[in-house]
Order: sequence, then structure tokens, then C-alpha cells
Amino acid sequence: MNNPRKPVVVVTRKLPASVEARMGELFSVELNHDDRPFSRERLAEAMARADVLVPTLTDTIDAQLIEKAGPKLKLIASFSNGIDNVDVDAAARKGITVTNTPNVLTEDTADMTMALVLAVPRRLAEGARLLAGSAPDSWQGWSPTWMLGRRIWGKRLGIVGMGRIGTAVARRAKAFGLSVNYHNRNRVNPETEAELEATYWDSLDQMLARVDIVSVNCPSTPATYHLISARRLALLRPEAYIVNTARGDVIDEAAMIRCLEDDRIAGAGLDVFENEPAINPRLLELAKAGKAVLLPHMGSATLESRIDMGDKVIINIRTFFDGHRPPNRVLP
Ligand code: DGY
Repeated sequence: MNNPRKPVVVVTRKLPASVEARMGELFSVELNHDDRPFSRERLAEAMARADVLVPTLTDTIDAQLIEKAGPKLKLIASFSNGIDNVDVDAAARKGITVTNTPNVLTEDTADMTMALVLAVPRRLAEGARLLAGSAPDSWQGWSPTWMLGRRIWGKRLGIVGMGRIGTAVARRAKAFGLSVNYHNRNRVNPETEAELEATYWDSLDQMLARVDIVSVNCPSTPATYHLISARRLALLRPEAYIVNTARGDVIDEAAMIRCLEDDRIAGAGLDVFENEPAINPRLLELAKAGKAVLLPHMGSATLESRIDMGDKVIINIRTFFDGHRPPNRVLP
């Protein structure tokens, strides 16, 4: 880097050892070895004196914190793809650049989405739970009418948000014999549509009423907050399943719970929740009853993606302090 003074970089969570080691070589870095999330006070204190803050999706960097940031803070280099936890407008007003880590977790998140698309109708969690920890003779053996799920092949998948992850989900879904339907702000290019044999629905309502499995793959923004509202959930067929690996608040979670409890939809596969890490106890009951498969926000949780995310954070910081526009700048 041109700048002889190493920037002071505060990282809010523990990162893979190789990423932390590289950061240690390049920056004057403060790591979080015990991995406990920063309190609001600790965040404010870090933002008062650091040149760069490296938060993750578990840190809420709102306008109030940003307004109180010290004059040195010039970059918030988030270790995340989703950036809904950072008030990017407030950062821009304060002259702070914000970056994220897109592209490198697309395939892993699409894999986890597909895992849930398969797991819920095929009752995978119920079956695994039945044997895990059970006595050796508790399974009475195969029976023609036992543990029947629903077939995946030939069903209609409706993808809400056909960005990088949505498209990667569509590729997998096609290979599993699902027909691909999607709703997105913009239609994808004709080549991609042809490759995926995908049907575009301008009307989200019409798509929801038609498909068998819904996969939520759009970011959380003010425009997508409760996009899958109570009214829209009511459009789903009673045999339909819903999968969410994006952000919890894209679905009206309370309304979805009521639909599941009243058998107005068949099941849900959720990797994300409205009030993470708190999970509505009624969802836990639904999981016990086999109507929901719940995962603790692990869609992108592979060692490879975390190392790649770390590399992106490092490149964004270095490029910024070399006086260039960082590659993953998030615009307000
Ligand atoms: C992200 O970075 O936005 C992902 O949700 C992490 O899994």
C-alpha cells in the first residue's frame, strides 16, 4: 500500500485463522478472539477510533452509531453479502464508504437452498431425527405407507429474486426436474431464461398462486420487507412449501406461522428468521411436528466461502487505502 501508516482495522467477529493472519500482516488489526458479538457500546467505541470497521451481519450499524463515528472512520468493510444491517445512506452522508462481499457465497447458499427444497417435502429432518439418539431397535423397519413425503421431480418452483443466488438455485432445480418460475424486478436476459427454461412472472401474486415450492432469494431492503405478506401467503396452495435462505424479514413470519399451524401451506424450510438469533417458539413446535425444517443461518457456512469473504474484505480495504474505488462498494 502507498500509505505508510497501517490503517487501524477493528473486526467484530472471529474470522478463519488464515484471514486473520493476513489481516495482521497488512493492517493494524484488532481481532475478536472470543467471538462474542460486540455490544452497542463496544461498537461505538470502535467506530470512534478505527479507520476501518469490519462488521458482520450480526452487528446493527444504524444511523445513530454512524453519526457518532470518529473522524478517522472512512470505511465499513462488511464481512457479508447482505448489507441490510448497515445504514448505507447515513454512511454516505458522513462520507464513509461501505463495501460487502458478494459473489463468493452464491453457490454455497444455492446448495443450502436446494437442500431445504429437497428436505422439507421429503421429510429428511424427521427421518434423521427418528434415528439420531434412538435405541437400536426403535425403528420397526420399512413399510409401504410410512414416512411418505411429496415428489420433487416435475413440481413447479417459484423463485422470488432472480439475482446471482436465485439463478444458481434455478440451475440446480432444473437438474432435479423442477420447472423454474421466477419473479424479479427485472427480467433476466433471454439466454439465461432459455438455458433455465424459466418462466418469468411479472405478477408475484400470480406466480405464488401457481407454484408448488417458493424459494425466497431476494435481499432485505425497505421494498422487500414483508414482501411475502399475509395476503400473499393466502395465495399459496395448501400443498405448497416455502423456503427462505435470504433474510427473515422478507416474509411476514407471524403470518407464515399461522398458515403452517392451520395447514394452509404444507411446510417451510427456513435458514433465516425475523429476530435472529431468537426463534419464535411456535416455529420450534412446527419443526417438532414435521412441518418445518429450521437451520441456524448456515446457508453460506463453508470454510471456502468464509476464506473468500475474508479475501474480499482485505481487497476492499487495500484498494480503498491505495486511493481507488473498492471493487465491492455498496452505493446508497
Ligand atoms: C450474508 O453474508 O449476507 C449471508 O447471509 C451470510 O450467510
